[in-house]
Amino acid sequence: MRTLIKNIKELVGVEKAPQLRKQGKEMAVLETIKDAYLIVEDGKIAAFGPMAELKEENADRVVDAAERLVFPTFCDSHTHIVYANSREHEFVDKIRGLSYEEIAKRGGGILNSAKATAAASEDELYDMARQRLDDVMRMGTGAIEIKSGYGLSTESELKLLRVIRRLKETSPMTIKSNFLGAHGIPMEYRGHQEDYVDLVINEMIPKVAAEGLADFIDVFCDQGFFTVEDTARILEAGIKYGMRPKIHANEMAVSGGVQVGVKYGAISVDHLEQMGDAEIECLKGTETMPTILPGCAFFLNLPLSPARKMIEAGLPVAMASDYNPGTSPSGNMQLILSMACIRYRLTPEEALNATTLNTAYAMGVSNEVGSIAVGKKANFYITKPIASYEYMPYAYGENKVERVFLNGIEV
Ligand code: NIG
Ligand code: FE
Repeated sequence: MRTLIKNIKELVGVEKAPQLRKQGKEMAVLETIKDAYLIVEDGKIAAFGPMAELKEENADRVVDAAERLVFPTFCDSHTHIVYANSREHEFVDKIRGLSYEEIAKRGGGILNSAKATAAASEDELYDMARQRLDDVMRMGTGAIEIKSGYGLSTESELKLLRVIRRLKETSPMTIKSNFLGAHGIPMEYRGHQEDYVDLVINEMIPKVAAEGLADFIDVFCDQGFFTVEDTARILEAGIKYGMRPKIHANEMAVSGGVQVGVKYGAISVDHLEQMGDAEIECLKGTETMPTILPGCAFFLNLPLSPARKMIEAGLPVAMASDYNPGTSPSGNMQLILSMACIRYRLTPEEALNATTLNTAYAMGVSNEVGSIAVGKKANFYITKPIASYEYMPYAYGENKVERVFLNGIEV
Protein backbone atom coordinates (compact mmCIF):
# COMPACT_ATOMS: atom_id res chain seq x y z
CA MET A 1 0.00 0.00 0.00
CA ARG A 2 1.46 3.31 -1.18
CA THR A 3 0.00 6.66 -0.11
CA LEU A 4 1.05 10.02 -1.48
CA ILE A 5 0.37 13.25 0.40
CA LYS A 6 0.90 16.07 -2.08
CA ASN A 7 0.89 19.88 -2.22
CA ILE A 8 1.74 20.15 1.48
CA LYS A 9 2.09 23.85 2.22
CA GLU A 10 4.88 23.06 4.71
CA LEU A 11 6.13 19.69 5.94
CA VAL A 12 7.41 20.24 9.46
CA GLY A 13 9.88 18.32 11.60
CA VAL A 14 11.75 16.49 8.86
CA GLU A 15 15.05 14.85 9.65
CA LYS A 16 17.46 13.68 6.97
CA ALA A 17 19.93 12.46 9.58
CA PRO A 18 17.66 11.35 12.44
CA GLN A 19 18.74 12.07 16.01
CA LEU A 20 17.42 10.30 19.08
CA ARG A 21 16.89 13.59 20.93
CA LYS A 22 17.77 17.28 20.69
CA GLN A 23 19.52 19.19 23.45
CA GLY A 24 20.59 22.75 24.21
CA LYS A 25 20.95 24.86 21.04
CA GLU A 26 19.88 21.93 18.83
CA MET A 27 16.38 22.31 20.23
CA ALA A 28 15.96 25.47 18.15
CA VAL A 29 16.58 23.51 14.94
CA LEU A 30 13.39 22.42 13.21
CA GLU A 31 13.74 21.51 9.57
CA THR A 32 10.82 22.04 7.24
CA ILE A 33 10.12 21.79 3.50
CA LYS A 34 7.73 24.19 1.81
CA ASP A 35 5.43 22.94 -0.97
CA ALA A 36 6.27 19.33 -0.18
CA TYR A 37 5.21 15.75 -0.73
CA LEU A 38 5.32 12.73 1.55
CA ILE A 39 5.18 9.09 0.48
CA VAL A 40 4.10 6.29 2.80
CA GLU A 41 4.73 2.64 2.06
CA ASP A 42 3.47 -0.20 4.24
CA GLY A 43 2.93 2.04 7.22
CA LYS A 44 6.38 3.66 7.13
CA ILE A 45 7.68 6.94 5.75
CA ALA A 46 9.30 6.04 2.42
CA ALA A 47 10.22 9.44 0.97
CA PHE A 48 9.60 13.18 1.17
CA GLY A 49 10.81 16.32 -0.54
CA PRO A 50 9.77 19.41 -2.50
CA MET A 51 6.90 18.96 -4.96
CA ALA A 52 9.23 20.07 -7.76
CA GLU A 53 11.21 16.87 -7.20
CA LEU A 54 8.24 14.49 -7.16
CA LYS A 55 8.84 12.21 -10.14
CA GLU A 56 5.61 10.26 -10.47
CA GLU A 57 2.26 10.33 -8.78
CA ASN A 58 1.49 6.60 -8.88
CA ALA A 59 0.03 5.57 -5.52
CA ASP A 60 -2.90 3.54 -4.19
CA ARG A 61 -4.12 6.65 -2.46
CA VAL A 62 -3.45 10.32 -3.12
CA VAL A 63 -4.29 12.98 -0.53
CA ASP A 64 -4.17 16.63 -1.54
CA ALA A 65 -2.98 18.74 1.43
CA ALA A 66 -3.15 22.13 -0.31
CA GLU A 67 -3.20 25.09 2.15
CA ARG A 68 -2.38 22.67 4.96
CA LEU A 69 0.70 21.85 7.01
CA VAL A 70 1.84 18.36 7.98
CA PHE A 71 3.50 17.64 11.34
CA PRO A 72 4.76 14.49 13.06
CA THR A 73 2.16 13.45 15.64
CA PHE A 74 2.75 14.43 19.25
CA CYS A 75 4.35 11.95 21.61
CA ASP A 76 2.98 12.13 25.13
CA SER A 77 5.52 10.49 27.42
CA HIS A 78 3.68 10.88 30.74
CA THR A 79 0.02 10.02 31.37
CA HIS A 80 -2.20 8.27 33.88
CA ILE A 81 -5.30 7.66 31.74
CA VAL A 82 -6.52 4.43 33.34
CA TYR A 83 -8.77 5.64 36.15
CA ALA A 84 -12.42 5.44 37.09
CA ASN A 85 -13.57 8.80 38.38
CA SER A 86 -13.05 12.49 37.72
CA ARG A 87 -12.24 14.68 40.77
CA GLU A 88 -13.92 18.01 40.21
CA HIS A 89 -14.96 18.24 43.88
CA GLU A 90 -11.29 18.46 44.87
CA PHE A 91 -10.85 21.03 42.13
CA VAL A 92 -13.42 23.19 43.91
CA ASP A 93 -11.73 22.53 47.30
CA LYS A 94 -8.51 23.81 45.76
CA ILE A 95 -10.21 26.96 44.49
CA ARG A 96 -11.44 27.52 48.05
CA GLY A 97 -7.86 27.31 49.35
CA LEU A 98 -6.86 23.73 50.14
CA SER A 99 -3.50 22.61 48.77
CA TYR A 100 -2.89 19.40 46.80
CA GLU A 101 -0.89 18.03 49.75
CA GLU A 102 -3.65 18.86 52.27
CA ILE A 103 -6.23 17.06 50.15
CA ALA A 104 -3.91 14.04 49.87
CA LYS A 105 -3.29 13.96 53.63
CA ARG A 106 -6.96 13.59 54.43
CA GLY A 107 -7.40 10.67 52.06
CA GLY A 108 -8.41 12.55 48.93
CA GLY A 109 -6.27 12.79 45.83
CA ILE A 110 -4.66 9.61 44.60
CA LEU A 111 -6.42 7.52 47.30
CA ASN A 112 -9.78 8.88 46.19
CA SER A 113 -9.04 7.69 42.64
CA ALA A 114 -7.70 4.36 43.94
CA LYS A 115 -10.97 3.64 45.74
CA ALA A 116 -13.13 4.22 42.68
CA THR A 117 -10.68 2.41 40.42
CA ALA A 118 -10.63 -0.67 42.68
CA ALA A 119 -14.42 -0.87 42.38
CA ALA A 120 -14.41 -0.74 38.57
CA SER A 121 -14.09 -3.82 36.40
CA GLU A 122 -11.32 -4.33 33.87
CA ASP A 123 -13.82 -3.89 31.03
CA GLU A 124 -15.17 -0.64 32.46
CA LEU A 125 -11.67 0.73 32.93
CA TYR A 126 -10.74 -0.30 29.41
CA ASP A 127 -13.77 1.48 27.92
CA MET A 128 -13.06 4.69 29.81
CA ALA A 129 -9.34 4.69 29.00
CA ARG A 130 -10.02 3.83 25.35
CA GLN A 131 -12.33 6.83 25.04
CA ARG A 132 -9.62 9.12 26.44
CA LEU A 133 -7.04 7.56 24.15
CA ASP A 134 -9.22 8.05 21.07
CA ASP A 135 -9.94 11.65 22.05
CA VAL A 136 -6.26 12.60 22.33
CA MET A 137 -5.47 10.69 19.14
CA ARG A 138 -7.91 12.86 17.21
CA MET A 139 -6.15 15.93 18.63
CA GLY A 140 -2.85 14.77 17.18
CA THR A 141 -1.19 12.39 19.64
CA GLY A 142 0.34 9.28 18.05
CA ALA A 143 2.43 7.76 20.84
CA ILE A 144 1.71 7.66 24.55
CA GLU A 145 3.06 6.29 27.80
CA ILE A 146 0.46 5.11 30.30
CA LYS A 147 1.06 4.47 33.99
CA SER A 148 -0.70 2.29 36.49
CA GLY A 149 -0.82 3.77 39.99
CA TYR A 150 -4.50 4.08 40.86
CA GLY A 151 -4.52 0.47 42.09
CA LEU A 152 -2.21 0.51 45.10
CA SER A 153 -2.92 -3.16 45.82
CA THR A 154 -1.39 -6.07 43.93
CA GLU A 155 -4.68 -7.13 42.40
CA SER A 156 -5.70 -3.64 41.35
CA GLU A 157 -2.31 -2.68 39.95
CA LEU A 158 -2.32 -5.84 37.82
CA LYS A 159 -5.82 -4.99 36.64
CA LEU A 160 -4.70 -1.54 35.48
CA LEU A 161 -1.65 -2.92 33.72
CA ARG A 162 -3.79 -5.51 31.93
CA VAL A 163 -5.99 -2.67 30.70
CA ILE A 164 -2.88 -0.97 29.30
CA ARG A 165 -1.88 -4.24 27.62
CA ARG A 166 -5.30 -4.39 25.96
CA LEU A 167 -4.94 -0.81 24.79
CA LYS A 168 -1.57 -1.74 23.27
CA GLU A 169 -3.16 -4.66 21.44
CA THR A 170 -6.17 -2.80 20.11
CA SER A 171 -5.15 0.81 19.46
CA PRO A 172 -3.16 2.05 16.45
CA MET A 173 -1.17 4.26 18.80
CA THR A 174 2.38 3.42 19.93
CA ILE A 175 1.94 2.68 23.64
CA LYS A 176 4.41 2.07 26.47
CA SER A 177 3.37 0.91 29.95
CA ASN A 178 4.77 2.09 33.24
CA PHE A 179 4.27 0.36 36.62
CA LEU A 180 3.64 3.04 39.27
CA GLY A 181 2.69 0.95 42.31
CA ALA A 182 4.51 3.55 44.42
CA HIS A 183 2.14 6.39 43.56
CA GLY A 184 0.48 6.90 46.95
CA ILE A 185 0.64 5.41 50.40
CA PRO A 186 -2.60 3.53 51.23
CA MET A 187 -4.24 4.63 54.53
CA GLU A 188 -3.51 1.32 56.26
CA TYR A 189 0.23 1.83 55.68
CA ARG A 190 0.41 5.37 57.05
CA GLY A 191 3.18 5.58 59.66
CA HIS A 192 4.91 2.45 58.36
CA GLN A 193 5.18 3.05 54.65
CA GLU A 194 8.29 0.86 54.41
CA ASP A 195 5.86 -2.08 54.63
CA TYR A 196 4.07 -0.83 51.52
CA VAL A 197 7.44 -0.43 49.80
CA ASP A 198 8.15 -4.07 50.74
CA LEU A 199 4.84 -5.11 49.17
CA VAL A 200 5.72 -3.28 45.95
CA ILE A 201 9.16 -4.92 45.85
CA ASN A 202 8.38 -8.44 47.01
CA GLU A 203 4.95 -9.04 45.57
CA MET A 204 3.93 -6.52 42.93
CA ILE A 205 7.14 -6.25 40.88
CA PRO A 206 7.62 -10.03 40.46
CA LYS A 207 3.97 -10.49 39.44
CA VAL A 208 4.04 -7.57 37.02
CA ALA A 209 7.24 -8.95 35.49
CA ALA A 210 5.88 -12.50 35.28
CA GLU A 211 3.12 -11.26 32.96
CA GLY A 212 5.49 -8.90 31.11
CA LEU A 213 3.16 -6.02 31.86
CA ALA A 214 5.55 -3.07 32.29
CA ASP A 215 8.17 -1.40 30.13
CA PHE A 216 9.08 1.08 32.87
CA ILE A 217 9.01 1.47 36.64
CA ASP A 218 7.97 4.70 38.32
CA VAL A 219 7.93 6.14 41.84
CA PHE A 220 6.36 9.37 43.12
CA CYS A 221 9.54 10.53 44.89
CA ASP A 222 8.52 13.68 46.71
CA GLN A 223 7.80 15.38 50.00
CA GLY A 224 4.80 13.67 51.64
CA PHE A 225 5.05 10.65 49.33
CA PHE A 226 8.01 8.27 48.78
CA THR A 227 11.49 9.07 50.10
CA VAL A 228 14.77 8.88 48.21
CA GLU A 229 15.54 5.65 50.11
CA ASP A 230 12.17 4.10 49.20
CA THR A 231 12.73 5.15 45.61
CA ALA A 232 16.23 3.63 45.42
CA ARG A 233 14.97 0.30 46.76
CA ILE A 234 12.05 0.16 44.34
CA LEU A 235 14.10 1.17 41.31
CA GLU A 236 16.76 -1.44 42.11
CA ALA A 237 14.08 -4.12 42.31
CA GLY A 238 12.44 -3.02 39.06
CA ILE A 239 15.76 -2.90 37.20
CA LYS A 240 16.44 -6.52 38.22
CA TYR A 241 13.24 -7.44 36.40
CA GLY A 242 14.13 -5.46 33.28
CA MET A 243 12.03 -2.35 33.91
CA ARG A 244 13.78 0.94 33.18
CA PRO A 245 13.18 3.77 35.68
CA LYS A 246 11.17 6.81 34.69
CA ILE A 247 10.17 8.80 37.73
CA HIS A 248 8.12 11.60 39.29
CA ALA A 249 10.50 14.03 40.97
CA ASN A 250 10.60 17.52 42.46
CA GLU A 251 6.95 18.48 42.13
CA MET A 252 6.41 19.52 45.76
CA ALA A 253 10.00 20.09 46.89
CA VAL A 254 13.67 19.78 45.97
CA SER A 255 13.39 16.17 47.01
CA GLY A 256 16.54 14.43 45.77
CA GLY A 257 14.35 12.78 43.14
CA VAL A 258 16.40 14.02 40.20
CA GLN A 259 19.62 12.67 41.72
CA VAL A 260 18.19 9.26 42.53
CA GLY A 261 16.65 9.03 39.07
CA VAL A 262 19.94 9.87 37.36
CA LYS A 263 21.83 7.46 39.64
CA TYR A 264 19.63 4.58 38.48
CA GLY A 265 19.79 5.54 34.80
CA ALA A 266 16.19 6.79 34.51
CA ILE A 267 15.14 7.40 30.92
CA SER A 268 13.33 10.50 32.21
CA VAL A 269 12.73 12.47 35.39
CA ASP A 270 9.39 14.23 35.28
CA HIS A 271 7.67 17.30 36.82
CA LEU A 272 10.72 19.36 37.93
CA GLU A 273 8.77 22.33 39.24
CA GLN A 274 11.39 22.59 42.01
CA MET A 275 14.85 22.72 40.48
CA GLY A 276 18.08 24.08 41.93
CA ASP A 277 21.44 24.47 40.20
CA ALA A 278 22.56 21.11 41.63
CA GLU A 279 19.69 19.35 39.82
CA ILE A 280 20.61 20.97 36.49
CA GLU A 281 24.27 20.11 37.01
CA CYS A 282 23.44 16.52 37.86
CA LEU A 283 21.49 16.03 34.59
CA LYS A 284 24.36 17.18 32.37
CA GLY A 285 26.01 14.49 30.28
CA THR A 286 23.42 11.86 31.24
CA GLU A 287 20.95 9.74 29.26
CA THR A 288 18.07 11.09 31.37
CA MET A 289 15.47 13.33 29.71
CA PRO A 290 14.24 16.18 31.95
CA THR A 291 10.49 16.27 31.34
CA ILE A 292 8.26 19.17 32.27
CA LEU A 293 4.48 18.79 32.72
CA PRO A 294 2.98 22.21 31.94
CA GLY A 295 -0.63 21.08 32.46
CA CYS A 296 0.05 20.08 36.06
CA ALA A 297 1.78 23.37 36.94
CA PHE A 298 -1.10 25.23 35.29
CA PHE A 299 -3.85 23.26 37.03
CA LEU A 300 -2.22 23.40 40.50
CA ASN A 301 -0.76 26.90 40.12
CA LEU A 302 2.73 25.56 40.81
CA PRO A 303 5.96 27.43 40.12
CA LEU A 304 7.21 26.96 36.57
CA SER A 305 10.09 24.62 35.90
CA PRO A 306 13.13 26.61 34.64
CA ALA A 307 12.97 25.29 31.07
CA ARG A 308 15.02 28.10 29.50
CA LYS A 309 17.75 27.74 32.09
CA MET A 310 17.95 24.01 31.37
CA ILE A 311 18.16 24.55 27.60
CA GLU A 312 20.78 27.26 28.06
CA ALA A 313 22.76 24.83 30.23
CA GLY A 314 22.83 22.51 27.18
CA LEU A 315 20.20 20.07 28.44
CA PRO A 316 17.39 18.55 26.39
CA VAL A 317 13.84 19.31 27.56
CA ALA A 318 10.66 17.31 26.90
CA MET A 319 7.10 18.38 27.66
CA ALA A 320 4.22 15.95 28.26
CA SER A 321 0.60 16.25 29.40
CA ASP A 322 0.50 14.28 32.69
CA TYR A 323 -3.15 13.53 31.77
CA ASN A 324 -4.71 12.39 35.10
CA PRO A 325 -7.84 13.20 37.14
CA GLY A 326 -6.04 15.01 39.99
CA THR A 327 -3.45 17.38 38.62
CA SER A 328 -3.97 17.65 34.86
CA PRO A 329 -7.37 16.52 33.56
CA SER A 330 -6.46 17.08 29.91
CA GLY A 331 -4.29 15.23 27.43
CA ASN A 332 -4.46 17.92 24.77
CA MET A 333 -0.89 18.18 23.49
CA GLN A 334 -1.76 21.18 21.30
CA LEU A 335 -2.38 23.05 24.54
CA ILE A 336 0.93 21.80 26.00
CA LEU A 337 2.66 23.13 22.89
CA SER A 338 1.10 26.55 23.47
CA MET A 339 1.98 26.53 27.17
CA ALA A 340 5.58 25.64 26.28
CA CYS A 341 5.82 28.91 24.35
CA ILE A 342 3.58 31.16 26.41
CA ARG A 343 4.51 30.13 29.94
CA TYR A 344 8.02 28.67 29.55
CA ARG A 345 9.29 30.97 26.77
CA LEU A 346 10.30 28.20 24.41
CA THR A 347 10.35 29.21 20.76
CA PRO A 348 7.88 27.33 18.52
CA GLU A 349 10.80 25.27 17.16
CA GLU A 350 11.95 24.29 20.66
CA ALA A 351 8.39 23.60 21.77
CA LEU A 352 7.73 21.32 18.79
CA ASN A 353 10.92 19.35 19.48
CA ALA A 354 9.99 19.17 23.19
CA THR A 355 6.59 17.61 22.41
CA THR A 356 7.60 15.23 19.62
CA LEU A 357 11.18 13.97 19.34
CA ASN A 358 12.20 14.54 22.96
CA THR A 359 9.05 13.01 24.40
CA ALA A 360 9.55 10.07 22.03
CA TYR A 361 13.02 9.69 23.54
CA ALA A 362 11.53 9.89 27.06
CA MET A 363 9.47 6.78 26.29
CA GLY A 364 12.21 4.95 24.40
CA VAL A 365 10.68 5.18 20.91
CA SER A 366 12.52 8.05 19.21
CA ASN A 367 14.04 5.59 16.72
CA GLU A 368 10.53 4.87 15.36
CA VAL A 369 8.43 8.02 15.93
CA GLY A 370 8.83 11.72 16.83
CA SER A 371 9.83 13.20 13.46
CA ILE A 372 9.35 12.84 9.70
CA ALA A 373 12.25 10.57 8.74
CA VAL A 374 12.56 7.74 6.23
CA GLY A 375 11.89 4.39 7.89
CA LYS A 376 9.96 5.82 10.85
CA LYS A 377 6.29 5.01 11.40
CA ALA A 378 4.08 7.15 9.17
CA ASN A 379 2.52 8.99 12.12
CA PHE A 380 1.53 12.51 11.15
CA TYR A 381 -1.36 14.94 11.14
CA ILE A 382 -2.65 17.31 8.50
CA THR A 383 -3.80 20.67 9.84
CA LYS A 384 -6.79 22.73 8.85
CA PRO A 385 -5.80 25.52 6.45
CA ILE A 386 -3.35 27.60 8.53
CA ALA A 387 -0.72 30.20 7.68
CA SER A 388 2.46 28.90 9.31
CA TYR A 389 3.82 26.44 11.85
CA GLU A 390 4.02 29.21 14.45
CA TYR A 391 0.21 29.34 14.29
CA MET A 392 0.11 25.94 16.05
CA PRO A 393 1.28 27.22 19.49
CA TYR A 394 -0.09 30.72 18.86
CA ALA A 395 -3.77 29.85 18.46
CA TYR A 396 -4.15 28.16 21.84
CA GLY A 397 -7.39 26.43 22.72
CA GLU A 398 -8.43 25.87 19.12
CA ASN A 399 -8.20 22.46 17.45
CA LYS A 400 -5.98 22.93 14.42
CA VAL A 401 -5.75 19.23 13.52
CA GLU A 402 -7.97 18.07 10.65
CA ARG A 403 -6.79 14.52 9.83
CA VAL A 404 -4.55 12.08 11.69
CA PHE A 405 -2.60 9.20 10.13
CA LEU A 406 -1.00 6.47 12.23
CA ASN A 407 1.09 3.77 10.56
CA GLY A 408 0.05 5.40 7.30
CA ILE A 409 -3.66 4.81 7.91
CA GLU A 410 -6.13 7.58 8.58
CA VAL A 411 -7.74 7.19 12.01
O1 NIG B 1 1.80 13.29 38.01
N1 NIG B 1 2.33 13.57 41.09
C1 NIG B 1 1.85 12.45 41.14
N2 NIG B 1 0.99 11.88 40.35
C2 NIG B 1 0.14 12.56 39.47
C3 NIG B 1 -1.08 13.06 40.15
C4 NIG B 1 -1.98 12.01 40.52
C5 NIG B 1 -3.28 12.45 41.14
O2 NIG B 1 -3.39 13.45 41.84
O3 NIG B 1 -4.23 11.70 40.88
C6 NIG B 1 0.90 13.66 38.77
O4 NIG B 1 0.69 14.84 38.95
FE1 FE C 1 2.22 12.09 36.72
